[in-house]
Amino acid sequence: MFNLAKMLIIFIYLTSICCFFVTSQNVLSRDILSQNVSSPNTSSQDMLYIYEEPIEGLKLQNTYTLSGGSLMIWMVFKDEEDPSCILPYDIHLRLIERTGRTTYIDLNYTFPLEAVCPINITVLPLNYNYIMIIYVKSNNGVKGKYGLIINYGSKIIGEIYLGGVDEVVGRSILPEKGLICIEKPDKEGIAIWRWLSAPDITTGEVMERGSGEFHAPNLLFYTFVDSFNFGLVDGGFGHIYILKYNEMGSSVTNDPNIQYWKIYVSFLREGTYLPTMPSLVYQTTTKLNNIVFKSCSYNNGVGNICIVSLNNTITNKNQSRTEVNYYKLEFLTTGAFVQFDMIPKEIGNMDDFALSSLIYGGFLVERYYTNTTAMDFYILDNNGNYKSGGSFGPEFFHYNLFARNGTFFGIKKQIGNKLEILSKPLLRLNNQGADYDNPVIESTKPAVNEAIDSSINEITIKYGIPVRLSTANISIFQLNDDPYKPSLLRQTISGNSKLCTIGSDNHTVHIPIFSSTFNQPNSSYYVVIENDFVISQARNEPLLGTNEKTWMFSTRPFKTEQYSESITGLLRLNEEGSSKFLQTNQSEFFNNIIQAFSKIIPVDEQRITTNGKWKNDLTSPQKVLLSFTINEAKNAIKPSSKTIFDNLSTLVKKKRFTALSNNEYTSLIDESASFAITQDYFGKYLPLIIISLVSLIILTILYFLARWKNPEGRNFAIFETALIMQDLAVDLSFTLLRVNNTPHLIVPNMVFLIVPHIVNFLLAINIYLSEVDTNPMFFTWISELPTLLLSICATFSAVDILAINTLTSNLFGLKVFSAPLSQRSRKIILWGSFINIFAEDIPQLIIQILYYNSVVTYDLIPTLVLISGGLVIINKLILRSYHAIVRWYHRRDKIRNFIRRLSASSIRSLRSNV
Ligand SMILES: *[C@@H]1O[C@H](CO)[C@@H](O)[C@H](O)[C@H]1NC(C)=O
Ligand SMILES: *[C@@H]1O[C@H](CO)[C@@H](O)[C@H](O)[C@H]1NC(C)=O
Ligand SMILES: *[C@@H]1O[C@H](CO)[C@@H](O)[C@H](O)[C@H]1NC(C)=O
Ligand SMILES: *[C@@H]1O[C@H](CO)[C@@H](O)[C@H](O)[C@H]1NC(C)=O
Ligand SMILES: *[C@@H]1O[C@H](CO)[C@@H](O)[C@H](O)[C@H]1NC(C)=O
Ligand SMILES: *[C@@H]1O[C@H](CO)[C@@H](O)[C@H](O)[C@H]1NC(C)=O
Ligand SMILES: *[C@@H]1O[C@H](CO)[C@@H](O)[C@H](O)[C@H]1NC(C)=O
Repeated sequence: MFNLAKMLIIFIYLTSICCFFVTSQNVLSRDILSQNVSSPNTSSQDMLYIYEEPIEGLKLQNTYTLSGGSLMIWMVFKDEEDPSCILPYDIHLRLIERTGRTTYIDLNYTFPLEAVCPINITVLPLNYNYIMIIYVKSNNGVKGKYGLIINYGSKIIGEIYLGGVDEVVGRSILPEKGLICIEKPDKEGIAIWRWLSAPDITTGEVMERGSGEFHAPNLLFYTFVDSFNFGLVDGGFGHIYILKYNEMGSSVTNDPNIQYWKIYVSFLREGTYLPTMPSLVYQTTTKLNNIVFKSCSYNNGVGNICIVSLNNTITNKNQSRTEVNYYKLEFLTTGAFVQFDMIPKEIGNMDDFALSSLIYGGFLVERYYTNTTAMDFYILDNNGNYKSGGSFGPEFFHYNLFARNGTFFGIKKQIGNKLEILSKPLLRLNNQGADYDNPVIESTKPAVNEAIDSSINEITIKYGIPVRLSTANISIFQLNDDPYKPSLLRQTISGNSKLCTIGSDNHTVHIPIFSSTFNQPNSSYYVVIENDFVISQARNEPLLGTNEKTWMFSTRPFKTEQYSESITGLLRLNEEGSSKFLQTNQSEFFNNIIQAFSKIIPVDEQRITTNGKWKNDLTSPQKVLLSFTINEAKNAIKPSSKTIFDNLSTLVKKKRFTALSNNEYTSLIDESASFAITQDYFGKYLPLIIISLVSLIILTILYFLARWKNPEGRNFAIFETALIMQDLAVDLSFTLLRVNNTPHLIVPNMVFLIVPHIVNFLLAINIYLSEVDTNPMFFTWISELPTLLLSICATFSAVDILAINTLTSNLFGLKVFSAPLSQRSRKIILWGSFINIFAEDIPQLIIQILYYNSVVTYDLIPTLVLISGGLVIINKLILRSYHAIVRWYHRRDKIRNFIRRLSASSIRSLRSNV
């Protein structure tokens, strides 16, 4: 019986596949093997890492290399009396990440004796932060395999029954695709399988995805001998059936055309969960004793490669000898046969060896000895030529490989609590794509570690070979600030979604980027290309992708956000969601959606609120519309409500490709209806804006009408003052409520608000004082005024010196409005108000225009400021010009009169002289 479990576990550790490709020429000579073996060479690239175990007495049991480049070390307390046993109550796993950060997982769980003595426990790292500990336990006298699911926080999530003790449990090469349990096949070659999901990221729950049977082909005269399981690069599983011709004992036919052995393969993939029809990949007319599958693995873009041993008895005359030879069987993922080649006998004759195909090309041969823990390794090119090699001395006792970046390591025999780990980078036959741990990737845009603009609308991958798009996904994640929390999915697109395209060179893949994807400044993102996102054009074989946190880059800091008001809009639920909404606690439903939004967008939870309102959609009565409000930003560093709105709209529109579709609640949103604004700032304030505009226009018309009838009268100076006061009011409300949204305008706004008023105030004081001094009538007037009224007047004049005109307007014949002002003061008022136009009104108008340009949504207050500012300027310009013209006419009349009088008198004097 073959050790299926051991074989399956081999590929779990190696993301790539074992293969060996040797030409019939015996390149690998005994000389090379023996010469280079014993020289313990330590090259300059070797790295020594020392792990110190904090718990006294723990011994190394095993190591696991994870796809992300982390190393998991399993430490145990060995039983003093029986070294094959461990103490039953604890499991200690140490996860050393690439960054050097170590997570200590110390589990306090009592395993049954049959699992620990002799040790019969397997550690299977799963997806995210889950690990399955597989062990044997008897339940009511029946032995079974159980899986204890724990997480990196040393917490037990649950336990599941996996099946009988003979069952093979294997994880998919892609951890998030789950694991498979395959029963030992019966005599007919029927094996029951169950595909289990990977633990759910939030709950850790494992569910059955599918189940069925592998059926060996039912051929007349053939009997089922054995089966073999292996992982596929696309995350599925392969199942090999070995069939043998049954001679029925009686008539020993010597028909040379009889195929004595037939090998079939069936594939089981996610989605269909139905094994494919077995395809014949190898058959032979040789009467072999046996065929044994050693390993099967995947070779990037080439196909599946299995190492098979053939046990043959050769009878020559009366002599017969039995020999075992190793072969490499190569077939495509369609089941099509490619090659069957012999592996050089030199390797086959070693005591103990392992062969793996390397991602950067060529093969790794690991050679072990029976009398020492030392080992040698060799790198062979695709033709089997020796390229390089190395060895570990007898002080080493445990070996493993980081398959993804081709780094082999050995661990020295433990002394005390120290583990010395020596890693040796293996020779890369092809050093392309080293940044991506993938030699078929030539380059990408953005490159690894590039700082990107958040507005980029596509990313590209250039492959070294012509490719076609396939079914797997390309996903973009944002690295979580908290390293213990999962990364945030931004978008995920399948290769065949039509959104991705291949350039005319057949090498470059273009992937569109949604505007919501890179929406955080100074954040790290990474792209995960799943295996089978593209296939090679030459063979239609799935290509390897990239692991997480490999193709990483970051966004540049953003410019400060343009301010926008809060936005309220309606989102539609699909029919399923609508009926669920109507049946459940609605405020809880709203809360759950808001929580999901805040995680997915991502944004502070306070930024999204709801008034709890909903209604049926009139155009589609089975669906309901829910109201949400995006609150305005508290400061310019936070994203504006408009930005959040746009992000959410994009997420909804692209729901299928974003994390919205992974959440229980947000997946119920109807992406066919866009997030519609119901209460926009303009609509909200439109009546107010119209009323203020109309009243201002009426005021102005009234004013000019009055002027027209009574050009010299000052009765309507009060309107002018009212206009100025109104302007001040809106200026002030703008300063208090809005200018903070645009930090660069705060100072100019203050300057042009305060300085002109101080100047005006000084001018007004000047007028009062000089009038009091030189104009006795004014003095009488002012002394008869109540103090309160006087201070109001002074304040008004500080706003705009023009307001003093009101005091001289004789309005309603009131005493207060009949100040007797001198001509000099009137002149100061006239010029003062002209200066105000340029020192205050026009700068304020410019500030408003700048404000308009730097905010996204523009509301009532700035609108009013702009309108009233404009009116004040027009009013002043027209009025002052009018005054100036009037004065000029007056003066001209006076001069004419004077000249007339002058000439009359001169004529008179001339006459008298004459
Ligand atoms: C192995 O031996 C060969 C032949 O002597 C030599 O050319 C080669 O450099 C050696 N390689 C190593 C890694 O020692
Ligand atoms: C390969 O990955 C391992 C684990 O992340 C790391 O320790 C090692 O330095 C890497 N080797 C190379 C050559 O990058
Ligand atoms: C394990 O937990 C039990 C209680 O849950 C406790 O009694 C026992 O001492 C713990 N063992 C260790 C080794 O911490
Ligand atoms: C584990 O236990 C089962 C059932 O007792 C046995 O068949 C199997 O060989 C054991 N495995 C190891 C590695 O001891
Ligand atoms: C090869 O087959 C013969 C006959 O079945 C058997 O005795 C022998 O042990 C086998 N050799 C190997 C290495 O499996
Ligand atoms: C192991 O055995 C080989 C022969 O098979 C021998 O040459 C070598 O010296 C032995 N090593 C040790 C450490 O005993
Ligand atoms: C790209 O592939 C298509 C077939 O898929 C082929 O017709 C075309 O010539 C190829 N283009 C280049 C530049 O190789």
